[in-house]
Amino acid sequence: MKILVTGGAGYIGSHTVLLLLTNGFEVVVLDNLMNASIESIRRVEHLTGKKVSFIKGDIQDKTALTSLFNEHAIDAVIHFAALKAVGESSTIPLEYYQNNVHGTLCLLEVMANLNINHFIFSSSATVYGGENAVPYEESMPLGEASSPYGASKVMIERVLKDLAQSNLDFRAVCLRYFNPIGAHESGQIGEDPKGIPNNLLPYVAQVAVGKRERLQVFGDDYSTQDGTCERDYLHVMDLAEGHVAAVNWLQKNSEFTGVEAFNLGTGKAVSVLSIIKAFEQASQQKVPYTIAPRRHGDLPAFWANAEKANKQLGWRATRDLTQMMTDTWRWQSNNPEGYPK
Ligand SMILES: NC(=O)c1ccc[n+]([C@@H]2O[C@H](COP(=O)([O-])OP(=O)(O)OC[C@H]3O[C@@H](n4cnc5c(N)ncnc54)[C@H](O)[C@@H]3O)[C@@H](O)[C@H]2O)c1
Repeated sequence: MKILVTGGAGYIGSHTVLLLLTNGFEVVVLDNLMNASIESIRRVEHLTGKKVSFIKGDIQDKTALTSLFNEHAIDAVIHFAALKAVGESSTIPLEYYQNNVHGTLCLLEVMANLNINHFIFSSSATVYGGENAVPYEESMPLGEASSPYGASKVMIERVLKDLAQSNLDFRAVCLRYFNPIGAHESGQIGEDPKGIPNNLLPYVAQVAVGKRERLQVFGDDYSTQDGTCERDYLHVMDLAEGHVAAVNWLQKNSEFTGVEAFNLGTGKAVSVLSIIKAFEQASQQKVPYTIAPRRHGDLPAFWANAEKANKQLGWRATRDLTQMMTDTWRWQSNNPEGYPK
């Protein structure tokens, strides 16, 4: 089977490409490298001993997409390519809607023209919004997203549903990720954010390696066990396995049409202070931090009910917090500046 992975040079994409290759899939990556380095693909090739067809290009370029699909007999698309910084999305909403929503429409349009009907979408726990009770379940209605980033995910899930109703051959899976962290156990590939990290773990790791002075913890007066926000962190390799499971599920369930959503999380919430402590233990480094005011839009705590993915996809997160921390530290300490620029 040949899979097109958009955004495959990025953090989650590169780990998924690695696992697809080791599971015998052929992989074509389309990435404009706006938030990634080609070095991630080179390292994936080195680690697997297999070749990736890499195309530098944009999902909004329908001509390039059409020639890609004409050149490669693609069976399914895993669509990671997106802008993903929640805070930034409120500052430049049009860029987010343009890149994420319009980009996805371009991709789906070209796929429809060429009758390519298998689609796996990188959705997010943010689609549940603040209205739903925790733990989040797939049967819950989508919430009012608190950021343009979240809204772009809600919109795309809606587009997929409408598309599936109009085309009974279309088969899509929305994977709603909780909080992916960690890195491949080789320490060769990992998360390499450009500029100031938006997510907790890359920030913690950069403080530990001496690249940043201290971490700001946004709020310690939430109604959680230690007052800091709690999230459902899962290892990026578990997440990558979720994508392989989803591809296999689509392949096996040939009678399925429509869109199916699955939560990918561990089902457990961990606080920011617990993350700092676990990271300090795994890395044997100090992570200085200060308590800062709450950040607008942050929910106190959310986590997944991941039973559906377990029952239907046969998937479960198996790597524990210690492994997430150890692998993050291995990546960060081997590559203090990220991929060579
Ligand atoms: N990391 C998380 O915490 C998280 C959580 C939930 C959902 N997601 C979603 O998972 C996906 C992957 O996230 P990630 O953390 O690997 O991010 P990332 O930024 O590392 O990867 C995204 C990749 O897409 C590429 N890209 C962006 N716009 C593109 C375009 N128009 N054309 C071609 N390539 C483009 C970037 O260069 C990058 O390589 C995104 O859709 C993101 O919204 C991420």
